[in-house]
Formats: sequence, C-alpha cells, structure tokens
Amino acid sequence: MSEGSPAPYLSTIGEVQVAVRDRVATVTLNRPEKLNAVTGAMSAELARFAQWCNADDGVRAIVLTGSGSRAFCAGSDIRELDRYTTPWDFRNRVDYCDAIRDLRKPVVAAINGYALGGGLEAALTCDIRIASASASFAAPEITLGWIGGGGMSALLARSIGASNAAMMVMTGDRIDAGTAKAWTLVSEVVEPDRLLARAQQIAATIASRAPIAAETAKRNLQAAANMPLDEAIAYERDLQTVAFATEDAREGRQAFAEKRQPRFTRR
Ligand code: COA
Repeated sequence: MSEGSPAPYLSTIGEVQVAVRDRVATVTLNRPEKLNAVTGAMSAELARFAQWCNADDGVRAIVLTGSGSRAFCAGSDIRELDRYTTPWDFRNRVDYCDAIRDLRKPVVAAINGYALGGGLEAALTCDIRIASASASFAAPEITLGWIGGGGMSALLARSIGASNAAMMVMTGDRIDAGTAKAWTLVSEVVEPDRLLARAQQIAATIASRAPIAAETAKRNLQAAANMPLDEAIAYERDLQTVAFATEDAREGRQAFAEKRQPRFTRR
C-alpha cells in the first residue's frame, strides 16, 4: 500500500462493515435487528480484518462501533452457541475479543447503546472508550448460567475496580452511561448524534501522531498491566529506545527545530 492511498479492504460479509478514511478505519458491527450480536462468521471476519490492518500502513487507528441506535453489541449470538458439538469446539472457537486484542494499532470504542456480555468485553478490549448518553453496560452471562470468557473479570476489575467488577459480574445488572463514566469504564459520555464524530476525531488525532510510537505506546500499556513495576519501566525504556531509533523520531526532532509539523512515514 503506498502512503496515504485509500485502503481497499473488502469485508466478506455485510454484518461487519469497514470504511477507511484519512487513515482511520471505522469498523461497524452491522446486525442491528439482533442488537449486533456477534456470529462465528462475524468473528472470523474481524480476525481477518485484524490481520490485514496490522500489515497495512493505510490504517493508523481504528474506531469500533455498532449499527443502529440501540446497541453497540449484545455479545455473542446466544442461539448460535448451540451449534458447538463439544465443549472443546466451543473453547477453540474464533473469538472476536481475541481479534480486537490482536490489533496492533490503537482502537477507540464508540459505544452507541447496549454493551452486553461479549459486547462489554469487546469495548474493554479497545484502548479508549467513548459512550453515548444512551449507552448501557452489563455482564449478563450469569443470568444465562455461565460467565464471560473474553477477559471480562480481569479487564473489568482493572477498569472499574474489584468491588464494582464483582457487582457487575455477580449480579448481571446493567449500569448506565453516567455510572460507567463515574466508574472510569469510559473516558467521555457524549450525546448520541456526536458519538461517532467524537470517536473519529480521537482516532484521527492518534493517526496523525508518529505511528510506530502509537503502536509501541499501545504495546507498552498492555504489557505494563501484566508486569511488576521495575520490569514495566525497563520494558518501557526498551520500547522507548525502539521508537527513538526510528526515522520518525529523527523527523520529529527536526520538525521541532525547524518549527514545522512533522511528516511521519512509519519508518
Ligand atoms: N444473541 C442473539 N440474539 C440476540 C442477542 C444475543 N446476544 N441479543 C439480542 N438478540 C436478538 C433478540 O433475540 C431479538 O431477536 P428476535 O427479534 O428475532 O426475537 C432481537 O435481538 C432484539 O432483541 P429483543 O430481546 O427483542 O430486545 P429487547 O429490547 O426486548 O431486549 C435485551 C434487549 C438486550 C435486554 C435483550 O435482547 C437481551 O437480554 N439480550 C441478550 C444479551 C446477553 O445476554 N448478552 C450476553 C450474551 S453472552
């Protein structure tokens, strides 16, 4: 892909839509009549997108959202879960949260309605969460007889603290956008008609920054969550050195000296 040219990603199914503009890919879960519940085919498409996106310099940040006004994502398609013939098949299914986690580039969740079960996990897997005032959040698996498997406990506890996470996971009750903001589950709450533009604005800002630095920043934030402090700081210094050694870092310093905007090339 030559620099700046539009990326020709073609989704294989209508239930996952991808639109790339100015290096921001907007990925829309497009099954509004089922509250954007995710099927196996949608998971496979998201995994395919992640693989393509990681390799394509035409995308530097991603917005993940849901189609329609009701739902971001109501989790896995519950009816389809019956199709797994053995628990091992179920265990080894293609998981959409894994697909999102595999994205090396920053992801902003634009949460436009229900974020339930796997939909909440998908949002938690994104790097930044922005919600519409009409959004709501729950871990309702316990009302169905199971628990989340896409990182619900760990990601929720890290995001909102142990007691709030336990409240959500053990009751399955929904919280509204105001509570999500108060619990730091989301960074901002905006009116529904401003949500996508705001998420795309954040993604565009990230896309304008040095791309290798953005990718290493993401990697570092993820890694730091799993490391003791001394190791996390040492790893950060290693990644800083990688970023510092890039042509883009030289360009950043040169642009500063010449009092102009830098032109980053992901080199
Ligand atoms: N899987 C499959 N279908 C789902 C779904 C899911 N996770 N969530 C919603 N849908 C479907 C409904 O079955 C319904 O389809 P239908 O019109 O063919 O019956 C459609 O989406 C609209 O949902 P509906 O339940 O009619 O809307 P509602 O306003 O009455 O209720 C919810 C909304 C979110 C409370 C309800 O849909 C719900 O509890 N969904 C399940 C959420 C969940 O437990 N997710 C975790 C899965 S692991």
